[in-house]
Amino acid sequence: MQNFDYQTPTRLIFGEGSIEKLPEVMAAFGRRILLAYGGGSIKKTGLYDKVRDLLKDFEIHELSGIEPNPKYTGSVVPGAALCKEKHIDVILAVGGGSVLDCSKAIAAGAMYDGEPWDLISYKVPTKAALPIVDVMTMAATGSEYDSGCVISRTETNDKVGYVDPHLFPAVSILDPVHTFTVSLRQTAAGVADAMNHTIEQYFAEDTTLLNDAICEGNLRSLMVNGRIALEHPDDYKARAEIMQCCAYGCNGILALGNSRSGWPCHGMEHALSAYYDITHGVGLAILTPRWMEHILNEHTLPRFVSFAVRVMGVAPMDDDMETAKAGIHALYDFFVSMGLPMHLREVGIDESRLEEMAHHVAEGWPLDQAYVPLTEKDILAIFRASL
Ligand code: NZQ
Ligand code: ZN
Repeated sequence: MQNFDYQTPTRLIFGEGSIEKLPEVMAAFGRRILLAYGGGSIKKTGLYDKVRDLLKDFEIHELSGIEPNPKYTGSVVPGAALCKEKHIDVILAVGGGSVLDCSKAIAAGAMYDGEPWDLISYKVPTKAALPIVDVMTMAATGSEYDSGCVISRTETNDKVGYVDPHLFPAVSILDPVHTFTVSLRQTAAGVADAMNHTIEQYFAEDTTLLNDAICEGNLRSLMVNGRIALEHPDDYKARAEIMQCCAYGCNGILALGNSRSGWPCHGMEHALSAYYDITHGVGLAILTPRWMEHILNEHTLPRFVSFAVRVMGVAPMDDDMETAKAGIHALYDFFVSMGLPMHLREVGIDESRLEEMAHHVAEGWPLDQAYVPLTEKDILAIFRASL
């Protein structure tokens, strides 16, 4: 078991009606709030009005229109400038992972005199960030409980993960009711994203029985409750379990004591969404079974057999290799049953830029240190198999 040094300082307020605590929560950080949100879903659902009403005694400035795969030039730069101009005390992100991720980058940029990209690209260490509170309206990324954000810079086809302890939200308000209106497609994509977060940590060289069991439970819960949520989008219990599973995805708790895994599917997916602006969870659903097929060998076999039997419910066969392959097929079939596209061509990606993207991944993500190391050639093969 590996050593670890771990802290997650975020306060989670979970459950129906938890939004009522918002005034008390915000008051602890000051009066001037930057309210950050996306393309308008919170206006349609009435959450915007609710938040404005709860915070009527605060000074509120708004940053709206934050896009999925949040953009550096379009949202982070103006957001950081607005915080400086209005002397913002605290950022309130209301929306999905994109709104929260953007708010995290803004929070750091607001406390820095130069270009926020210096921080995002780690050219300059992050010394401070404004406090961040979020009200999540989507379950997927785990950004609500982690210190990372993912920012896209369209001009250079970069989609960069920026991780720093200053970026943990101070408080995350998680009311599953706020996720009832998420479309079937985004619900499925969110489940696929959280499943992949778990898989990225489960497939490691050195794991513990405890972590394995938590990961297996997380995956089973996401599949059971994902199916229910697609049938009954307002099933509170299913939405609540999905929200809880998603929150644990990226803050490391699933892999304390495990050896590093390298998060290979994320390395590859970030190139797809950087070049083609596709939905992150959809890209992961397409890549994950192909990556699994690519790395299945005699050495990784026992892990795949565990995955097949304990997660996907495959009955063990005489030949372990057959059991392992059945587990991968069962995962593929699950994504199909969730209505997810399973080929890159279905999301507008053809052969033309696969080599360029494989090169970009190999240069930018240390996949030579992954659970099963991947070369540029391997990455290209996985992309081609996903077409
Ligand atoms: O923009 P609005 O109008 O709010 O609509 C959003 C958006 O179009 C909509 N939506 C959100 N809540 C809704 C809703 N529609 C109806 N009802 C609601 N309650 O859903 C669409 C997608 O939202 P987005 O925030 O983009 O989705 P998600 O939460 O999946 O975030 C994806 C981003 O997070 C990054 C991804 O790369 C991607 O950029 N990630 C962040 C991570 C992190 N911080 O730890 C880890 C992840 O692996 C991931 O990379
Ligand atoms: Zn992800």
